[in-house]
Amino acid sequence: QRPIVRLLSCPGTVAKDLRRDEQPSGSVETGFEDKIPKRRFSEMQNERREQAQRTVLIHCPEKISENKFLKYLSQFGPINNHFFYESFGLYAVVEFCQKESIGSLQNGTHTPSTAMETAIPFRSRFFNLKLKNQTSERSRVRSSNQLPRSNKQLFELLCYAESIDDQLNTLLKEFQLTEENTKLRYLTCSLIEDMAAAYFPDCIVRPFGSSVNTFGKLGCDLDMFLDLDETRNLSAHKISGNFLMEFQVKNVPSERIATQKILSVLGECLDHFGPGCVGVQKILNARCPLVRFSHQASGFQCDLTTNNRIALTSSELLYIYGALDSRVRALVFSVRCWARAHSLTSSIPGAWITNFSLTMMVIFFLQRRSPPILPTLDSLKTLAEDKCVIEGNNCTFVRDLSRIKPSQNTETLELLLKEFFEYFGNFAFDKNSINIRQGREQNKPDSSPLYIQNPFETSLNISKNVSQSQLQKFVDLARESAWILQQEDTDRPSISSNRPWGLVSLLLPSAPNRKSFTKKKSNKFAIETVKNLLESLKGNRTENFTKTSGK
Ligand code: CTP
Ligand code: MG
Repeated sequence: QRPIVRLLSCPGTVAKDLRRDEQPSGSVETGFEDKIPKRRFSEMQNERREQAQRTVLIHCPEKISENKFLKYLSQFGPINNHFFYESFGLYAVVEFCQKESIGSLQNGTHTPSTAMETAIPFRSRFFNLKLKNQTSERSRVRSSNQLPRSNKQLFELLCYAESIDDQLNTLLKEFQLTEENTKLRYLTCSLIEDMAAAYFPDCIVRPFGSSVNTFGKLGCDLDMFLDLDETRNLSAHKISGNFLMEFQVKNVPSERIATQKILSVLGECLDHFGPGCVGVQKILNARCPLVRFSHQASGFQCDLTTNNRIALTSSELLYIYGALDSRVRALVFSVRCWARAHSLTSSIPGAWITNFSLTMMVIFFLQRRSPPILPTLDSLKTLAEDKCVIEGNNCTFVRDLSRIKPSQNTETLELLLKEFFEYFGNFAFDKNSINIRQGREQNKPDSSPLYIQNPFETSLNISKNVSQSQLQKFVDLARESAWILQQEDTDRPSISSNRPWGLVSLLLPSAPNRKSFTKKKSNKFAIETVKNLLESLKGNRTENFTKTSGK
């Protein structure tokens, strides 16, 4: 279903939106949303944030006339664009051309009153629209999908693809965040920012992680952090004269305690007054304290932290890597999907590998190709325009994508996928660490089973949580998958076939689990028998495809 995104006359803004969509993508085009803009990350963030500030979220009646709806809202100011989506009801995201229109809309809105309960008055950009005449509307509006296709549908799409490369690109196109979903993510952060601004008027709530680094899958969580740098920097403005003015402030013994106090009060605020914020959990004793909650209307699971500038910088680095070559995201999405299908990753925290670690492994692997597909972080540092140090960590790297030379490597996705599994199926995890800064293995500084150096906080291991048994599971599955792809070389079905092949074979349950999915009872479920098992799965298609959800 195509979402309804209508551009009404709104000088300036429309032209800007269209320009962005016209930006060229990498060499392989996989769809509209795959056109990764070659803009600076900070430009993209600022533009989307400004857009979100002009946007409102409206819970609508299930049946509504789109024209009447737009006509009603246009009273408050011209609308730049809008779309509808469903999530426990029908919602509309409406972007006005000017911020001022929101004030007019709020002035024309009242606080509801019910006989049974008392509403706490709260003025926000999240509204509830009611019909005066309940029976007047019959039509349903078309709504934009905020979740990926079912596995059954995806499975069929992949089986009918023309090549393994085509399968990887199809998977990317189906799973990546859509324009509407991205808008909804920035809007959600903007709504939370309004609440935080009650305490910290100059704060910014910034999304980071997979919502912005181009590796996000529909349904992934929304990581956001409260940025108080603007508040802090106000005092940095140079004013002439012999005096220095400071704010009177309260002091606490450490940065960590400050973070805990700020998050504690924001957690309370979201819990008591935040429209649509439910299940608020304050997880303040974690290494990185956070407030976790569900934003019901958008359907996002949100993690709010403070002072996470380094994580935002690593999101920018991934954004750059994702934009440099169109094969990067296709490979990362498939590896993430493969890992989820085999329960190597989970939405529950634990000893599993995370998507972030998997992305780092793919980047490292692509740096190791000959010629390399991705540059090392050290070489991005040498191309940098400005020096950047955050909390004593050197975060210098080039921000301008046009300064980085494209790779000469022309390897296919099929080859890269196979080689990825072979590479990590045989990697000396017991001795070596993965280091995208230097693009080569290093001796492990400690005995963690999997060591992936944090690119900016270089003394940290981003996969410290991974247990030996989870790593072994990853290695076994990687070997098995390399083997399956090897067999596929000589045993490829015709294009019209709908039997599992290529990427689909890799997403099927792994050898020991296949027992329960096949009618034939066999005692030999070792790697050698995988091929036979795949044969037996021919008639046992989509229903058995492991459910992947969320992450
Ligand atoms: N992060 C980090 N070190 C870690 C874990 C996370 O620096 N050990 C940062 C990364 O910038 C990461 C972000 O925090 O992108 C968010 O973490 P998480 O939600 O776990 O990963 P995502 O990249 O958002 O992936 P997912 O789609 O699984 O949420
Ligand atoms: Mg995340």
